[in-house]
Amino acid sequence: MCGIVGYVGDQQALDVVVEGLRRLEYRGYDSAGVAVVADGALASAKRAGKLANLEKALGDKPLPSSTTGLGHTRWATHGAPTDRNAHPHLDESGRVAVIHNGIIENFAGLRAELEDGGTAFSSDTDTEVVSHLLASHVAAGSDLADAMRSVCRRLDGAFTLVAVHADIPDRVVAARRNSPLVVGLGDGENFLASDVSAFIAHTREALEIGEGQVVEITANGVTLTDFDGAPVDEKRYHVDWDASAAEKGGYDYFMLKEIAEQPRAVADTLLGRVDSDGQLSLDEMRLSDDELRDVDKVIVIACGTAYHAGMVAKYAIEHWTRVPCEVELASEFRYRDPVVDRQTLVVAISQSGETMDTLMALRYAREQGARVLAISNTNGSTIPRESDAVLYTHAGPEVAVASTKAHLTQLVACYLVALYLGQVRGTKWGDETRAVVRELADMPGKIDQVLETMEPVRELARQLSDATSVLFLGRHVGFPVALEGALKLKEIAYMHAEGFAAGELKHGPIALVEPGVPVFVVVPSPRGRSVLHDKIVSNIQEVRARGARTIVIAEQADEAVVPYADHIVRVPVCPTLLQPLVAVVPLQVFACEMASVRGFDVDQPRNLAKSVTVE
Ligand code: G6P
Repeated sequence: MCGIVGYVGDQQALDVVVEGLRRLEYRGYDSAGVAVVADGALASAKRAGKLANLEKALGDKPLPSSTTGLGHTRWATHGAPTDRNAHPHLDESGRVAVIHNGIIENFAGLRAELEDGGTAFSSDTDTEVVSHLLASHVAAGSDLADAMRSVCRRLDGAFTLVAVHADIPDRVVAARRNSPLVVGLGDGENFLASDVSAFIAHTREALEIGEGQVVEITANGVTLTDFDGAPVDEKRYHVDWDASAAEKGGYDYFMLKEIAEQPRAVADTLLGRVDSDGQLSLDEMRLSDDELRDVDKVIVIACGTAYHAGMVAKYAIEHWTRVPCEVELASEFRYRDPVVDRQTLVVAISQSGETMDTLMALRYAREQGARVLAISNTNGSTIPRESDAVLYTHAGPEVAVASTKAHLTQLVACYLVALYLGQVRGTKWGDETRAVVRELADMPGKIDQVLETMEPVRELARQLSDATSVLFLGRHVGFPVALEGALKLKEIAYMHAEGFAAGELKHGPIALVEPGVPVFVVVPSPRGRSVLHDKIVSNIQEVRARGARTIVIAEQADEAVVPYADHIVRVPVCPTLLQPLVAVVPLQVFACEMASVRGFDVDQPRNLAKSVTVE
């Protein structure tokens, strides 16, 4: 959602800001705009649609040279995605420019108050109230940071706000409450952005901004206070990936690159988590063994693809630790009065670490006394910061909106948490844990094998590009894989797709099966619980008998499925619980090829955002 960039330094601000916006495009947006401070005035441009529209406008009518500026990509909440509603928003005198991510919940009251006082509004956004309020505080003698603090104290809701003022050419002021913002620390230049990818080409040194803080950057300084003006401690960190990690590297789409990076991402997420005795040591856990022994229930909360990883976690946690585990969509969790107490371990999974639904659910869980463990891919993001413990996945930056490598590393992190709980609580013998860890260590090679055999899957996508509906079936951990396969296809290929637990088929979904409908079936290993395998073979027969075109994802040498499969996608032999790590890959490849064949933007699907910072 909304991308934010601010800059002060010695480079052309516009170049830095537009380049930053380009790197934030993946977050999802529908309009873009910039403003710079030059010669005692503000110059701004904004356009609905992609960044290219804004760049064309800037080409037709260039802005003056400036070293102080800000830029924004907007994901519409209040007001349609039009030129007029795009950010920045200026006050009536055109002296202050504001960009915003989040929602100002009391904007209607503030707008009515300003309109009563004679202020004329020029957009339908909630943001614009901030421009008028800031301008009036500065006109009354406040400096911009003071004005920002005063305004923030009046605002309800979640926001990142960034502002520049025509009379103050050398600084950018920002505020943050429940919405992402980081500072990039350069040499003679400083940056503000929604995430580090915006400035990673310039600096890898970053500064966290906490909730309820205001930051002012100049070329050589950063000042951080709370909303009342009291200084707050700085928390600096180093970003351990560089600009090349956030480039396409020869692939047509980020999603293709990220699918290909999965073996490495899985291996990196396992790295350093096993000591020389084969014992798991999760250093960043920050929860004592006693605390983990006290846990009598685990609740996993997450959204979207991360939720599907959470579903797999349930199977692993209950099987390996015998601790009851629930999985809940984060957006539902706090509204159902869940049973949570000090002995509950809540596991919050979020690639971005900023998903508002997940953040609100974890805050609720902590208020109820639960301990929260975050699984996240983003160092310094809000969800890990507000959790009691964190396990970072090491997927590297994920740019495509549809999550792939982050998902696989979330699965790995879930297995590690389950194994660790089992180790600490003594529900798994050391040699059992070591055996699973060895099998996990083999998974990158197996994912590689799958990736090498994907051409028939791509060909199948090309053949099926006119299908009106695609179904996905699975049992046990194959069920979340089926859900994930369907989600991927919806997200990027805009096809009707549904995932079902194969056993539920006969209770309704089988009515959807008509001649020719493609049905993917994720088949568990025949060497695991054979009853599981036999049951799903029956399910394949049931849909085939009704004319479905069956696409079966099955282990190598599983011959039982052959008579009922129109297409077989082979995956390497691996333990049932770990099978999602290989079984989901063909479904990612299928969706990616399908989106491409159907002519859609693979990396930036319509209406979706990578980081969903509103509830
Ligand atoms: C958005 C994205 C999904 C993602 C979900 C959760 O909806 O479009 O791809 O799975 O958010 O994101 P998170 O960053 O919390 O894992």
